[in-house]
Amino acid sequence: MIALIAAFAKNQVIGNKGYIPWKIKGEQKRFKELTTGNIVIMGRRSYEEIGKPLSNRTTIVVSNTKNFDGENCLTARSLAEAIKLAGNKDIYISGGAKLYEEALLLVEKMYITEIDCDIEGDTYFPPFEKEQFVKEINEKCEGEIPYTYVTYTRI
Ligand SMILES: NC(=O)c1ccc[n+]([C@@H]2O[C@H](COP(=O)([O-])OP(=O)(O)OC[C@H]3O[C@@H](n4cnc5c(N)ncnc54)[C@H](OP(=O)(O)O)[C@@H]3O)[C@@H](O)[C@H]2O)c1
Repeated sequence: MIALIAAFAKNQVIGNKGYIPWKIKGEQKRFKELTTGNIVIMGRRSYEEIGKPLSNRTTIVVSNTKNFDGENCLTARSLAEAIKLAGNKDIYISGGAKLYEEALLLVEKMYITEIDCDIEGDTYFPPFEKEQFVKEINEKCEGEIPYTYVTYTRI
């Protein structure tokens, strides 16, 4: 199974100056639940933001300039190479923008956290053909910044 996992604001913002431009307690719960025991593929800048491999899952970093090989961490030179390295575990492609753009062509599912407001930023989730997916609303979470977990499944 190849999926994409992302959180974006109403204006499609995913990042600002190399960081995720919101802090919402508990918002990453679904990311942890889905990716634990599986494979996370991310771009080099996203990995550098986290700064270390995620526990209890394998991180494959896509980069042509650096190597991040170590425990639970591999480097690939392209998304295709990363998918090959993943073997037959479930794959969650987790950004940033360029990887999402490539991933949109091949993912079966998109696990999206919709942040329910506009947020200032410089990195955006790419536009996609909504009619190619069925959208299911999974959970609405209220709070200072409300958000909704949704799943898009390719038709
Ligand atoms: N809201 C969310 O769900 C979410 C998720 C992830 C990230 N973010 C945010 O997004 C921003 C980072 O995203 P970004 O788009 O700037 O960077 P990124 O995709 O994380 O990293 C870009 C780098 O990854 C490598 N790369 C990416 N795609 C590649 C490909 N197809 N083939 C080969 N190499 C590839 C390249 O590394 P080299 O230059 O080393 O070759 C490229 O410079 C940050 O602000 C982060 O906080 C948000």
